[in-house]
Amino acid sequence: MAGYSAIIVEAKNVDYYYPGEGENASPALSGVNLTVQQGEYVALIGPNGSGKTTLLKLFNALLTPTNGEVLVRGIPTTNEETLPEVRRTCGMIFQNPDNQLVATTVEEDIAFGLENLAISSAEIKRKVKETACLLGLERLLCQPPHLLSGGEKQRVAIAGILVMEPKCILMDEPTAMLDPAGCREVIETVRELNHRQNITVIHVTHFPEEAANADRVIVLNQGQLITSGPPEDILADIPMLHSLRLQGTAAVELAALLRKDGYPLPLKILHKRELVDSLCSLERKS
Ligand SMILES: Nc1ncnc2c1ncn2[C@@H]1O[C@H](COP(=O)(O)OP(=O)(O)OP(=O)(O)O)[C@@H](O)[C@H]1O
Ligand SMILES: [Mg+2]
Repeated sequence: MAGYSAIIVEAKNVDYYYPGEGENASPALSGVNLTVQQGEYVALIGPNGSGKTTLLKLFNALLTPTNGEVLVRGIPTTNEETLPEVRRTCGMIFQNPDNQLVATTVEEDIAFGLENLAISSAEIKRKVKETACLLGLERLLCQPPHLLSGGEKQRVAIAGILVMEPKCILMDEPTAMLDPAGCREVIETVRELNHRQNITVIHVTHFPEEAANADRVIVLNQGQLITSGPPEDILADIPMLHSLRLQGTAAVELAALLRKDGYPLPLKILHKRELVDSLCSLERKS
């Protein structure tokens, strides 16, 4: 892929069995091979139980593979001495920000991970302020996190990860608890960080509209990586998506219905704007 130069995370023939699931249990992940380049924005989609969260946890070394290898910047995640480095390289953001907020003020919360590093308190304060400004949280630094809105809480959780200067952000359904405006805020913030600072993003989502903004979409089913490609290919493949109980974007689904009714729409419609423009140009021609 043009513009990318270094592999940031890599799964090589990875199987993962949760412990205590018995010998005949099916694996949560099976034979997964995947490389993600520095600066890529990857969406990971798949039905419930397909292994998405498990794969993110392997990239963050919260889990280690049963078979195969996971490498973060070329370092195996099983290597105990480099575990802190792996965790700093790949910061993880969970669905529910409440589970990640631990301190009594937003400022302390963002600073939490930095406290374990050998840096002065003045430097910590500087970094926290800088990150808070980046995420539009500077007014909230003295607030208790539990009084914030869901979108604000998620931005604080993101700030707590970003302040550690990760190369990669792993997001597990980060907008699942947010209202539409909160979703937009979080997604736009992360996309901008990806563009401006070349931070890699691996984003697990059940929302096709979110996946449509990725550089690449990867599909998991029953622990296996079944396909991957640009959003306009993957999210327009309605038979594949429906067979997995998934769906395309609203524009993809509508365009498919309109084509069935005889509207000669182009195949690569992904976003609402493209559908509207295509319909308007048909209207003008007729
Ligand atoms: N702690 C656990 N112990 C045992 N089995 C687990 C555990 N966590 C997940 N699993 C199993 O591993 C498989 C993959 O789960 P995972 O949570 O990775 O799926 P997912 O794609 O994230 O699903 P969802 O969309 O519901 O979040 C599922 O079959 C699930 O039941
Ligand atoms: Mg999950």
